[in-house]
Amino acid sequence: MKSSHFSMSLFLLIGLVSLSWTISANAHDNNFLHCLSSFHSKDIPSISKVIYMQNNSTYSSILESLIQNLRFSTPTTPKPLVIVTPLHTSHIQATIFCSKKHGLQLRIRSGGHDFEGLSYVSEVPFVIVDLVNFRSVDIDVKNEVSWVQSGAILGEFYHAIAQKSRTLSFPAGICHTVGIGGYFSGGGYGLLFRKHGLAVDNIIDAQFIDVNGRILDRKSMGEDLFWAIRGGGGGSFGIVIAWKVKLVSVPATVTVFRISKTLEQNATKLVHRWQYVAPKLPGDIFSAVTMRRVNSSKHGQRTILASFSSFFLGGVHKLIPLMQERFPELGLVKEDCTEMSWIESILYFGQVQNKSLDILLDRSYKTTLNGPAFKTKSDYVKKPIPEAAFEGIWSKFYEEDAESAVMGFIAYGAKMAEIPESATPFPHRAGNMYKIAYTVGWQQEDQIKSQKYMRWIRKFYSFMSSFVAKSPREAYINYRDNDIGTNSKGNMTSYAQASIWGRKYFKNNFDKLVFVKTMIDPDNFFKHEQSIPPLMS
Ligand SMILES: Cc1cc2nc3c(=O)[nH]c(=O)nc-3n(C[C@H](O)[C@H](O)[C@H](O)COP(=O)(O)OP(=O)(O)OC[C@H]3O[C@@H](n4cnc5c(N)ncnc54)[C@H](O)[C@@H]3O)c2cc1C
Ligand SMILES: *[C@@H]1O[C@H](CO)[C@@H](O)[C@H](O)[C@H]1NC(C)=O
Ligand SMILES: *[C@@H]1O[C@H](CO)[C@@H](O)[C@H](O)[C@H]1NC(C)=O
Ligand SMILES: *[C@@H]1O[C@H](CO)[C@@H](O)[C@H](O)[C@H]1NC(C)=O
Ligand SMILES: *[C@@H]1O[C@H](CO)[C@@H](O)[C@H](O)[C@H]1NC(C)=O
Ligand SMILES: *[C@@H]1O[C@H](CO)[C@@H](O)[C@H](O)[C@H]1NC(C)=O
Ligand SMILES: *[C@@H]1O[C@H](CO)[C@@H](O)[C@H](O)[C@H]1NC(C)=O
Repeated sequence: MKSSHFSMSLFLLIGLVSLSWTISANAHDNNFLHCLSSFHSKDIPSISKVIYMQNNSTYSSILESLIQNLRFSTPTTPKPLVIVTPLHTSHIQATIFCSKKHGLQLRIRSGGHDFEGLSYVSEVPFVIVDLVNFRSVDIDVKNEVSWVQSGAILGEFYHAIAQKSRTLSFPAGICHTVGIGGYFSGGGYGLLFRKHGLAVDNIIDAQFIDVNGRILDRKSMGEDLFWAIRGGGGGSFGIVIAWKVKLVSVPATVTVFRISKTLEQNATKLVHRWQYVAPKLPGDIFSAVTMRRVNSSKHGQRTILASFSSFFLGGVHKLIPLMQERFPELGLVKEDCTEMSWIESILYFGQVQNKSLDILLDRSYKTTLNGPAFKTKSDYVKKPIPEAAFEGIWSKFYEEDAESAVMGFIAYGAKMAEIPESATPFPHRAGNMYKIAYTVGWQQEDQIKSQKYMRWIRKFYSFMSSFVAKSPREAYINYRDNDIGTNSKGNMTSYAQASIWGRKYFKNNFDKLVFVKTMIDPDNFFKHEQSIPPLMS
């Protein structure tokens, strides 16, 4: 998409018309591969170059290249029959058509960060469409917009913006390896979300392929589907190939800090106080606190370490007085802070500080959430947790199986509270003080221990129920958690079953998502353990 994206779309549309579905004339072809290769045309690259079967020597490296949670990379993890890495939209159309025809399930992979591995694991015979070759980024500095393809990772997008401007940015995620496709599909929060909203609040157009191979943009798909794909979760409606977004302005200098306190340094009081302060800070500040158990350096005794980290849209001379006014207890001083450009702050928060910016382009870099294999869960908090309750929480972190556990609070408020709950499928807006993310991680070799860690996090989640949103107990779709319910295998997805997790992720927006699903994919081809079900006809 180096040239104009608009000529590109035109090309795609013409491509569609000339290819069309006349290929379906090959009805006697009962072989999936033959079906795929029947989609050839002399004007487009041959699909046979991008089909990886299990007997292909590079199949494993392609599969594993984007497995971001080694919990789903074991000898018993089900593997795809075929991986297709399309070079052209017609390859995607062909894969949809042939998977449908041969009764194979299709999984779509952009960055492979799905917390439950749904982009590359299925219990039924399946095919992966891996969008690794759909990753161009087209920045239009003058109009402050960009087209970015789903297979790009956030780092590639950030890098491309930074090449063109120091003061343009986009409100996306903290870890640069996350894929645009899944991240945008589920909402997408990050350092700028209290100022500019989620990624989906800044999407203005998209290019989408539906179950019938039609290529649609915002105008042709209509506002309901365009609403649904901006936060309704990946893998439910079709394949989004590219997104048009509005870029945002950032100052040339931003400021970051991280201050860590143990219990002996009054961490409990500070975390308790943080709950009152952080959600009310101006939108220019991102504020989070992570808590984990550590050995205190003094006596080698265990304690809790609370790390307060922030990102501020401005210089240190403005941040210090603001924090001294709002949160004097933290005792922030100039020496705790570092000024940098926003792109450097991505490296800082991604813990790849001091590396060259080119690390953002490194797709093989693995961001580890407390261990290469992990389990994560989420909650939303509407009322402060009482100070005394933290003692109980810390005691859970002292349990043996919590050695690798971490809990993070991410402040909401500001812009997030101004956007109506129904503006996008993402419903966790006004009234939410902060989000909790719980993670336990482990080394892949620790398969046996992994069961203990999983049990610990489930027990801890259950313990936390009295402190968090209750009706429903809300959860973030991009922190996918199969524990809160999955669709039945085999028969058609039961709406009642899906509405258990559906209401937690989407609250009442779930109904509209079901309506859109019924319209665009009534036979439920795009399906996984937590895909939106169509109403039964
Ligand atoms: C290390 C790490 C850091 C993270 N940091 C953040 C963060 O800062 N902020 C945040 O909001 N989230 C964050 N997340 C969560 C992340 O947003 C989700 O896991 C997201 O779904 C990942 O997108 P992906 O493309 O990398 O994943 P994938 O596994 O490729 O996709 C996720 C889901 O979307 C579907 N999908 C993928 N591409 C498409 C497409 N083109 N069209 C339709 N469906 C598609 C997949 O089938 C799958 O169901 C993080 C996750 C990890 C592992
Ligand atoms: C593996 O698949 C790729 C893509 O289809 C192909 O180019 C390559 O020749 C195959 N390798 C082998 C050993 O068959
Ligand atoms: C893999 O298997 C397919 C069909 O079973 C066959 O056509 C192909 O030649 C095989 N490729 C290799 C590299 O063995
Ligand atoms: C902890 O707080 C108390 C009062 O609330 C204060 O007297 C004490 O100095 C603080 N300790 C540290 C290490 O900051
Ligand atoms: C903490 O201390 C315990 C017991 O002394 C030890 O087994 C453990 O390895 C230490 N952990 C870390 C992270 O240093
Ligand atoms: C980055 O470099 C600075 C100065 O050289 C150093 O003080 C800092 O510890 C480094 N940070 C990391 C994360 O390596
Ligand atoms: C699916 O439903 C049909 C008819 O409703 C029933 O006969 C069949 O046993 C069901 N299969 C499964 C796997 O539940």
